[in-house]
Amino acid sequence: MVGGTGKRKRFTSAKTERFSESVIREMTRLAMEHDAINLAQGFPDFAAPEELKQAARRAITEDVNQYAITWGAKNLRDAIARRMNETQRLEVDPETEITVCCGSTEAMIASLLATTDAGDEIVVFEPFYENYGPDAILSGARPRFVALHPPADDGGEWTFDEKELRAAFGPRTKAIVLNTPNNPTGKVFTRSELEFIRDLCLEHDALAVTDEIYEHILYDGAEHVSMARIDGMRGRTITINGMSKTYSVTGWRVGWAVAPPALSGAIRKVHDFLTVGAPAPLQEAGVAALALPSAYYRRLAEEYRARRDRLLPALRQAGFVAYTPRGAYYIMTDIRSFGFADDRAFAMHLVRDVGVAVVPGSSFYDDPADGAHQVRFAFSKRDETLDEAASRLRTLRGRPRRTRG
Ligand SMILES: Cc1ncc(COP(=O)(O)O)c(C=O)c1O
Repeated sequence: MVGGTGKRKRFTSAKTERFSESVIREMTRLAMEHDAINLAQGFPDFAAPEELKQAARRAITEDVNQYAITWGAKNLRDAIARRMNETQRLEVDPETEITVCCGSTEAMIASLLATTDAGDEIVVFEPFYENYGPDAILSGARPRFVALHPPADDGGEWTFDEKELRAAFGPRTKAIVLNTPNNPTGKVFTRSELEFIRDLCLEHDALAVTDEIYEHILYDGAEHVSMARIDGMRGRTITINGMSKTYSVTGWRVGWAVAPPALSGAIRKVHDFLTVGAPAPLQEAGVAALALPSAYYRRLAEEYRARRDRLLPALRQAGFVAYTPRGAYYIMTDIRSFGFADDRAFAMHLVRDVGVAVVPGSSFYDDPADGAHQVRFAFSKRDETLDEAASRLRTLRGRPRRTRG
């Protein structure tokens, strides 16, 4: 018996109808199902630093097992402020400007919920880290996408067209969401590009929300410049970062948003009611992580460079156009030479028949057609994993095409 008007209610919200399950995590499930090497999801398959693991164990033994202060344990906020000063010469007040969240994922959605209302617009470079799409839907903001254009040759840089970026800004623009070093392209935004973006933010009275989670994973002399360091931007930037990538602990779920006090106040309110707080003992381990010496960060970047340089030639030999990343740990590729109908058909062939899982390029674009000729590889993996993937990919050219998607 259906009550009242006799019409059934739809129990799921209209918001959730507008986005689908994460393609990246779906590919991880398929990788397990087909016993494929998972170069889809960007998590390391190697150990985290011993110092962190010890610190986490110690914290639990010492009964750091209850809620931390909702916006983050004081010693972790102090450590974050210290580190931002060391790396970017930014003065940050840990009492009023830092919110520790459950990963930078939560920091991003909390920041957008805290700053945007229905009718506001956010500018997002495309291809984009797939979360930003659902983040926009959940927060009610309308995304305006601006293309990052692939380089003409596979050693060049991804670029944006200044005119296209300018056209995306308008009276309703509340913020630009920026990710540098960038997933999936590997682009590292230069100071002059950031200054151009700054000029637009000032002209249109807009915020910058910058996801800097790959700040230490840089190649070929690329320098990471925080948007908050660009003249005029400190007061209108939310800087997002976290432990996942820098310390190889993606499952710990500790990240943070750094913003001027009024913005942090709003972010803290959202965060409190979303999750109350990030895992308390792992915040303590974060203090140990942020105290690692500079040699740790040099080694991290060097090891990732070696992994990049292991996978890149293997992809090119297998027939991909593979764009050289300057940062982060992904390689975006062009797959047109393989002659498949689209990226999903090709990714399904790779995971089922070749035994390598990748992310279809369409999941990084608003209009799937725009990414239908690309797939993304993650190389945050041990040498053995990358070599096995390379050896499987060598069989790609000779394989019969499956017609089923
Ligand atoms: C650009 C970007 N931001 C955020 C995340 C997620 O970070 P966290 O584990 O801190 O939530 C990822 C993970 O792949 C990412 O690539």
